[in-house]
Amino acid sequence: MSMPPTRPARKAVIPVAGMGTRFLPATKAVPKELLPVVDRPALQYIVEEAARAGLPEVLMVTGRGKAAIEDFFDRTPELETALEKKGDEGRLSAVHESTDVAQVHFVRQGEARGLGHAVLQAAAFVGDEPFAVLLGDDLIDARDHLLEQMLAVQAEHGGSVIALLDVGRENIDKYGAVAVEPTGDGSDVVAVTGLVEKPPVDEAPSSLAIIGRYVLAPEVFDVLRETAPGRGGEIQLTDALATLVERGEPVHGVVFGGRRYDTGDKLDYLKAVIRLASERDDLGPSLRGWLRDFVTELPAEGASPS
Ligand code: G1P
Repeated sequence: MSMPPTRPARKAVIPVAGMGTRFLPATKAVPKELLPVVDRPALQYIVEEAARAGLPEVLMVTGRGKAAIEDFFDRTPELETALEKKGDEGRLSAVHESTDVAQVHFVRQGEARGLGHAVLQAAAFVGDEPFAVLLGDDLIDARDHLLEQMLAVQAEHGGSVIALLDVGRENIDKYGAVAVEPTGDGSDVVAVTGLVEKPPVDEAPSSLAIIGRYVLAPEVFDVLRETAPGRGGEIQLTDALATLVERGEPVHGVVFGGRRYDTGDKLDYLKAVIRLASERDDLGPSLRGWLRDFVTELPAEGASPS
């Protein structure tokens, strides 16, 4: 059994090698992680979330066709000089924000062999300390402090912590599903007793799905090295976590009750853009006014509010 760590997690790993087929043809030439949510790439929100949670060291696990991500997190001296000459302080600080938010490193996955394989590429960067994994498709609203809570649970109990969301039984086959037991830590912190990757609906242990935030014990690397390909012929992080549970290592879940947008899904992506833009000081007042008129004019059968 791993003891609660003396050192808190400081590093974040963001796998970004996925193909983005759900957004073709947009993602033929632009990595899906750089599609804008209002005026920032989805990935910038993820890096900002890691930095806010006290994880300023970020490793992106990239692959072929993702060079634009490295360019995005690099400095742009020509652009900065041009904006400086124009005295355009607002845009200059927006450009700086995107590069100054964290120390971003890159490693290549080489072959697309699954999420577990992507995480394994971070072993040398992470070393022997707990670390966070943030999946780019899941955007957690900045006002909801999921990752901070997960880091606190990990610091208290040691082991690993995963983010969970009740997605309803009918949707569970799109996710890693978990069996859980209550803990004495309040209703949103549970002990994970079993995990299975994308089970058929009638075999799922619960309707609680793993969403894209993990705080992992470094022991996961040794397990991943021995994890055989699972669902879809890929090395699954879920399977490695199941092995940790079987070995008696603590794995906790934090059941999220806040705002999450799946920017890998077209409808959720559109909802995220509209919601976040409508809450902004610069765009919100005009957008909200327009939205009210737009909704009023929508034919009844066309309106499908969630
Ligand atoms: C991955 C994980 C899955 C998890 C999901 C969350 O699946 O394998 O367990 O529920 O992320 O978004 P993917 O969406 O990459 O197929």
